[in-house]
Order: sequence, then C-alpha cells, then structure tokens
Amino acid sequence: MFQGKALQVSLHPDGIAELTFDLQGETVNKFNLLAVSELELVLDLLEQSKDIKGLLVSSAKDVFIVGADIMEFAAVFSSGPENITRHLATNNRNFCRLEDLPFPTVVAVNGFALGGGLEFCLACDYRIASSAAKIGLPETKLGIIPGWGGTVRLPRVAGLDTAVDWIATGKENDAKAALEARVVDAVVDLEKLHEAALHCLLQCVSGKFNYLARRTQKTGPLKLNFIESMMAFETSKAFVGAQAGRNYPAPVSAIKAMQKAADKGRDEALRAEAENFAKMAQTSVAESLVGIFVNEQILSKKAKNWERKADKKIVRAAVLGAGIMGGGIAYQSALKGVPIKMKDIAQSGIDLGLSEANKLLSKRVERKKLLPAEMGSILNRIEPALSYDGFDQVDIVVEAVVENLKVKKAVLAEVESKVSTDAVIASNTSTISISSLADGLSRPENFCGMHFFNPVHMMPLVEVIRGARTSDIAVARTVAYANAMGKKPIVVRDCPGFLVNRVLFPYLAGFAMLLRDGADFQRIDKVMETWGWPMGPAYLLDVVGIDTAVHAEKVMAEGFPDRMRRDFTSCTDVLFFAARFGQKNEKGFYNYELDKKGKPAKVVAPEVSEILKPTIARVAELTDEDIIARMMIPMATEIIRCLDEGIVETVSEADMALVYGTGFPPFRGGIFRWIDSIGALAFCEMANMYSALGALYVAPESLKAKAATNQKFYG
Ligand SMILES: NC(=O)c1ccc[n+]([C@@H]2O[C@H](COP(=O)([O-])OP(=O)(O)OC[C@H]3O[C@@H](n4cnc5c(N)ncnc54)[C@H](O)[C@@H]3O)[C@@H](O)[C@H]2O)c1
Repeated sequence: MFQGKALQVSLHPDGIAELTFDLQGETVNKFNLLAVSELELVLDLLEQSKDIKGLLVSSAKDVFIVGADIMEFAAVFSSGPENITRHLATNNRNFCRLEDLPFPTVVAVNGFALGGGLEFCLACDYRIASSAAKIGLPETKLGIIPGWGGTVRLPRVAGLDTAVDWIATGKENDAKAALEARVVDAVVDLEKLHEAALHCLLQCVSGKFNYLARRTQKTGPLKLNFIESMMAFETSKAFVGAQAGRNYPAPVSAIKAMQKAADKGRDEALRAEAENFAKMAQTSVAESLVGIFVNEQILSKKAKNWERKADKKIVRAAVLGAGIMGGGIAYQSALKGVPIKMKDIAQSGIDLGLSEANKLLSKRVERKKLLPAEMGSILNRIEPALSYDGFDQVDIVVEAVVENLKVKKAVLAEVESKVSTDAVIASNTSTISISSLADGLSRPENFCGMHFFNPVHMMPLVEVIRGARTSDIAVARTVAYANAMGKKPIVVRDCPGFLVNRVLFPYLAGFAMLLRDGADFQRIDKVMETWGWPMGPAYLLDVVGIDTAVHAEKVMAEGFPDRMRRDFTSCTDVLFFAARFGQKNEKGFYNYELDKKGKPAKVVAPEVSEILKPTIARVAELTDEDIIARMMIPMATEIIRCLDEGIVETVSEADMALVYGTGFPPFRGGIFRWIDSIGALAFCEMANMYSALGALYVAPESLKAKAATNQKFYG
C-alpha cells in the first residue's frame, strides 16, 4: 500500500494491514521530519481504505522507535513558541488520527520505545512487548516534557502515579516493569512477538477485545475526583520539585500539564501539554541539556572511530598498584568482562584492592543488580600478583602507583622489560607529563596516559593522553580499553594537569585568592553549590585530599608560573601544615564523621577559622556575583587556552570533560556554553574588571577576537 523511506504498509488478504517502521540509512528508527510526514501520508491511505479490518504496527529494526530526532531539536526550539507548537501539532494530529482509525490497532514493541516512540504506542489500542523491550519517556532529562501526548495518554492508560514516576524520572523501564505498570498489555519472547500481536489484533477484530472502551478511557478526563486529584498533584509537585531541584524545571512542568488537563478531554489536554512543552523548550536548561546530548553523540562517535583504528582488542589487562585507583581500575575492568592482573609490592595493598572490589560487588548483589554467582566470576577475573609472572601475555598495563616521578619512572622501565613488545603501557598519573615519563622508555610510542577519576566505578571520564611520541595505535587501544570498561574516553594532548586538572586548579586558585581576600569558605561553598556545582570548592578539596592538592598545585605552578605561581600562603598550605588532609583523615576545611550509612558526612570544624588566619591578607567586600566571577573566570580562560593550544580538539569534548570529570552543572551545558550564554564581549569585560588579580583573569586573545566579531564557540 505504501513504500516510503521510513514507513511501509502492506495489506494482507485477510484485511490485516501492517505498518512497518524502517528508517533507511539509519541503525535506529526515529521520528524525524521525514517519518512524521510519511505517517501523515500513511494515515490518509488507512483512513480511505475500505478493506482494512485491523492494523498491526511493527519495526524492521532491533529497536522499535527511539523517539524524536533530537538532532532536529535545536532548530525547532529556537524558532519561537508558534513554530514549536506547530511542530508538535503535526504529529499530534497524526497520533490522534491513528487513535481514531475505524478499526483496531495493535503495536508489537520489539526493542526500545522511548519518548515519541512510546507516545506512538500509547496512541494504539493494545501494546504487546517483547521481553527485550525498553520503554520510557526520557524527555525531562533533556529539559523538556513529552510533547506528543505522553502526559495525556500515559496517566489515562497506566494511572497518575506511574505517569508521574516515569515522566519525572525519565527512566527506561524493562518489559516486566512496563507490564506491571499496565503500560503494555502482554510480554512475550521476541520470536513470538509478531504472532502474539496478531492474535491480539484478531481478538479485537472479532469483538472479543473491546478496543473502543480503551479509546474512551484515553480520550476522556482522568478518572480522579477533585480531592484525589488535588492531593495527588500537589504532593507529587512538591516531591518531584524537591528531587529535581530548582535548576531542572521540566519534571514539575510535566506534572502541571497533567494537572491542568486532568478534567479535560484529549484535545484540550494536548493543548495544555503543548503550552508547557513550548515553555520548557525555550529555556536555557533545555538548550544546555539538548546540547549535552548532541555532544555525547560526538564523543561516542570519536571514541568509536579511535576504536576502529585499534589493530587488536584488549583481551587481558594488568594494573600496577592496588591502591585507591588501581583497585578501582581492576574492579571496573573485571566487572565489564576484561580479566586483569593486579600487581602491588605489598600484600596489604592487594588485600585492600580486593576487599574494595568485594565491597562494591556485594552492594550490587544487595541491590539485586548482580547474582551472587556472577559476583564470584567477576572476582575471579581479578588476578592478584606480587610478581610480573604472566605480564608477557597482557595487551595493556595501567600504571597506578604512587604519584612520584622517580618511582613511576623506575616502575615503568621495569614493566616495559616484562611485557611483549607491542603491549601498551598507560599511566594513571594525575599531574606528571606523559612525554617526560616516556623519556626513560625504549618504546615510548607504546606509552600514553590513561587518567581515571576517583572513584573509578562512579566517574565516567577517562582522559587518554597522548605524549609527544605516543603512536596512534597506542591511543586507539587505550581508547578501546576505556570503551570496554564502559567509560567515556576523551583524547587530549600532554601538558601539566592534562585537560581537567589544568582547568580545575585555576578554579581552585580563584578560591585560594578569595580566602586570601577575606571571604568565608562556607559562604563560597554555598554560593557555588547554588550556582550548580555538586559540591563547593572547600568540600571538593577535602574530597580530593589537601595533600594531593598541594602536590598538584606545585606541579601546576612549575608548569605555568606566569599564572599559577602564588605569592601568598594559601589555604591548602596552612591546612597541610596542620595535617588536615581532608576526608582521608577526617579533618580538612570541615570535619568528617561517619553517618548512619557509614559514609563520611561533613560537619563544621570550629577550629579551622583560626588555622586559616595566616592566609587572610585583607578583608574585601564581596558580593555573590564577585565570588562566582572570581571562581569561574580562571577556569574559563584556562580552558580557552587549552582549546587554542590543541590540548583538547573541540568545545564539545572540553564541555563533556568537565561535566563527566568534575560534575560541572549539566543544566549549564558546559563551560563553553556558559561563556556563550554571557557572550564573548561581556565575558571579556567581566574578566577585565578582575584583571588586577593576575594573569588567570586576563581574557585570551582568541576570546577577544571572538568578542570583536561577535562570535560564539557553538556555531
Ligand atoms: N586518588 C585519586 O584521587 C587519584 C585520581 C586520579 C589519579 N590518581 C593517580 O593514581 C595513582 C595512584 O594513586 P592512588 O590514590 O591509588 O594511590 P595509593 O597510595 O592508594 O596506591 C598506590 C599503590 O601503589 C603501590 N605501589 C607502590 N609502588 C609500587 C610498585 N613499584 N609496583 C606496584 N605497586 C606499587 C602501593 O603499595 C599502593 O598500594 C597516582 O599516580 C595518582 O596521582 C589518583
């Protein structure tokens, strides 16, 4: 009946029509402009046909439909409220026409049905899912709300509680959960899916299943009385609002749309949804979160390209040092299926590494994310070692011994003599130049940096650092290993601090200068947390470790003396002298006590104000805006320099490195997007106001050039 580039329709002799989604040239189905316009044509045909008794919908790909095409969002969202509403209306009309067809409709959900994909399914009469299906409405994660009837149909199909939960969290649900929540009507094995969906459709055709009753339910008001409705909506707005936080308005907006539409029929309800969608789509939060999605695609494409260049897979790995980082690396590698030798010089180190892995795995078992038997086989993939036996068999060695140039050089030279000539050796150093570490090696081309963040199992970022002599193959294999570990690798060039620490320490230098000028560290923490950081700088320093920070500050000062050498005694220096190393010894800017869950919780340390006194040189009047500017400008100017110097290739990677590596607030989209939101000229003027503070506050020439020509970093 129809053969398009995204949709096909065939009519069987028994009067059953089958609509199949199969977007040509793509690995997944999505509702891009093409699919939406083809659906319009298909509906014309379906409505006019006199021969159809029922419609079966399926997908020819592994996924059902992953949703709208997010790559098309930016253009639509910036086109003004009328265009946004018009964009929604086209497909809403489609879905309503689908819902109103003069025969029953059943959809076979074989894989991902997310966002617009699920909204399409909700417009059908029955939904039969395969056990592999993954279903959800992730729109709020992009700062928007469902716009093709999700807030209208989901509460009417599955009840308000499920709708609030699914829409506010944006989570992906498996088929079993979807069945329990009554979002789908049955779950069967994939091989039986088509047959089961067809069977369901025939029951509708024969009148055994009352599909029209379902339509009445979906197109009428929500079945809640006034009191129930008020209680449910007010409670969920308060709860969801508190969970999402004030920087993420979409989840509450979705509930508001549902509330406004609760006593309305379908068309009015869809109008309420569209109104709230348009509001959310125009926020800077949506722009940032959609930007992050696009950046993630760029990142994963780059990582895959690197992986393709790797001439062989990483089958066996090794890690040197079983400390905080080595233990974490061994755990992550084993968890993701790559066997790893974990070598230390001390049995105590190995015991610590293994017990850490044990603890993390036990937690997964407790949370039912892992079967006890699987835990055993994961632990078996970690092979503890005190010698280099078997190192000639490994494809990559990650060095994670103490942060000391001499020790590292000796260990690297030693391990190089134990591995095969084409094994990659990667250092997890956080500060030492990769090129200088390569100096003593006979195969420097096989050596690079592989910088994990602490705690390894939680932090997605891995910086893969290419030294002056690192080969493409070494980078490619290291990226492939990071991919295999489920991490987000970003390839950067070598310099002190690499990318993340190079821009984090200027930020912390801004903090030290604020304390020098009399600002209270607790106030700074509060201001920066309100700005969006997951933790303020004092708290962050405690988590990193004051001793680690002092060491890294020294390295950075040597690397960039013009901007990072200090001419005053800094807060980290005095805390270090007072042996307050942060969380690791329960004393830093704050004191730490174990909470009920056994996690260190910070409490105010009254003695610290006295300890910090020697760092205070003056007492300046500072507004919250001063604090934000003085903290953020050094980070911004330094990351612009990193881009100028080619330390990082693109603004997308730089922004994602900070989001993944430091917790930079996602709703701001990344630091380059933040600079864009201020504008290059305004940013230069702001930096100028603080330029007396030193070179970190001087706008780089490239930014001044952007200001002169009114350019942005993002197109
Ligand atoms: N801790 C962090 O937050 C963090 C983050 C990123 C990178 N790093 C880097 O990771 C590396 C390790 O840091 P860590 O915090 O895990 O240190 P750690 O002190 O916890 O562990 C170091 C381990 O290395 C072992 N070791 C020392 N010499 C060895 C040798 N010759 N052979 C094998 N093992 C040896 C020690 O016994 C110890 O178990 C450092 O380079 C550090 O800069 C640390």
